[in-house]
Amino acid sequence: MENFSFQNPVKLIMGKGTIASLKDEIPSDKKIMITFGGGSVKKNGVYDQVKAALSGHNTIEFWGIEPNPAIETLRKAIALGKEEKVDFLLAVGGGSVIDGTKLISAGLKYEGDAWDLVLKGASYDCVPLGTVLTLPATGSEMNNGAVISRHETKEKFAFYSKYPVFSILDPEVTYSLPAHQIACGLADTFVHVMEQYLTKTGQSRVMDRWAEGILQTLIEIAPKIRENQQDYTLMSDFMLSATMGLNGFIALGVEQDWATHMIGHELTALHGLTHGETLAMVLPGTMSVLREQKGDKIIQFGERVMGVSSGLRESRINETIKRTEEFFRSLGLRTRLSEAGIGTETIDEIERRFNERHVHFGEDSLVDGATAKKILTQVL
Ligand code: NZQ
Ligand code: ZN
Repeated sequence: MENFSFQNPVKLIMGKGTIASLKDEIPSDKKIMITFGGGSVKKNGVYDQVKAALSGHNTIEFWGIEPNPAIETLRKAIALGKEEKVDFLLAVGGGSVIDGTKLISAGLKYEGDAWDLVLKGASYDCVPLGTVLTLPATGSEMNNGAVISRHETKEKFAFYSKYPVFSILDPEVTYSLPAHQIACGLADTFVHVMEQYLTKTGQSRVMDRWAEGILQTLIEIAPKIRENQQDYTLMSDFMLSATMGLNGFIALGVEQDWATHMIGHELTALHGLTHGETLAMVLPGTMSVLREQKGDKIIQFGERVMGVSSGLRESRINETIKRTEEFFRSLGLRTRLSEAGIGTETIDEIERRFNERHVHFGEDSLVDGATAKKILTQVL
């Protein structure tokens, strides 16, 4: 185990009817800007619950934070927030609304263009932020990360700011999610765990088993959710798995990968694919190309999570990768680039971008442009 220091300050409020607790979580003297996506919250009653809870507060609204939140939209929110002297932000939505609002929270304290902050990678001088989560997937409700896109240049980069002060998770709000978003949320959660787990064996028994527990939970609940997404217990397990998958708890003292995510972000930036689906495409390729470095852990994962417990080393690794891809397909996701009309031109562009940026992703810094090309070619 590596040394670490850990502090996650987010107050998690989970359960039926908890949106009403907003009135006690935000001081009544605050000028609040509530941020939303494209309007799903008006159809499923979340908007009404938020407005009722904050009826005694001073609020303004900002609408239209799109999936894969874009700097072009967020600049408008920052301008409005400055004009209105906003001193508290409430994000109501999925990872995109929460991520976008994290950049707004830093942008409100910054004089220049907020894209500078994205390029810098972090900014911790922020207006406080609370969240009401409507889509289990990103873990953004309990971490300090965000991923911001820029349409003009087709770029998408990670950015770090302060953690939310609180996050409200009512599983009933997920009942209205489209099936594709549920599939992408399950895949995203699965791959978050894999990025923190599928490195080397023997670093921490506790972290390994915690990660395996989340993976097993996802595999168990996924087909049941497809049958009935209005089951409170199932959706609670999904929601908590997503939060626990990326709030730092399963990463204590162990190496992390994140190469699959970095390649996935390029696929979204260039082709607009939904985040979770890009990961379903890339992860089997990462496992296959890095089988030498990750082999022991792939075998452990195969045995403990995927039920692959016999055979020679190579065939166990192959079978485990095959079952991983099958899991994503069972969610209804595409796992091959060609299914999305993506070909070698995109692979070459991603190789070019990685080389230009001199990046080396992954626990052993092995994923540069050339390796990314191999990974993507594997899943063409
Ligand atoms: O915009 P609205 O109308 O609200 O509709 C949204 C959106 O169209 C809809 N939706 C959300 N909750 C709903 C609902 N529809 C019906 N009922 C509900 N309860 O779902 C669509 C997708 O929402 P979005 O927020 O884009 O999805 P997600 O939560 O998967 O977020 C994806 C973004 O998060 C980033 C991704 O890269 C992507 O930009 N990530 C953020 C991370 C982080 N902050 O730590 C880590 C992740 O790896 C990820 O990269
Ligand atoms: Zn993700």
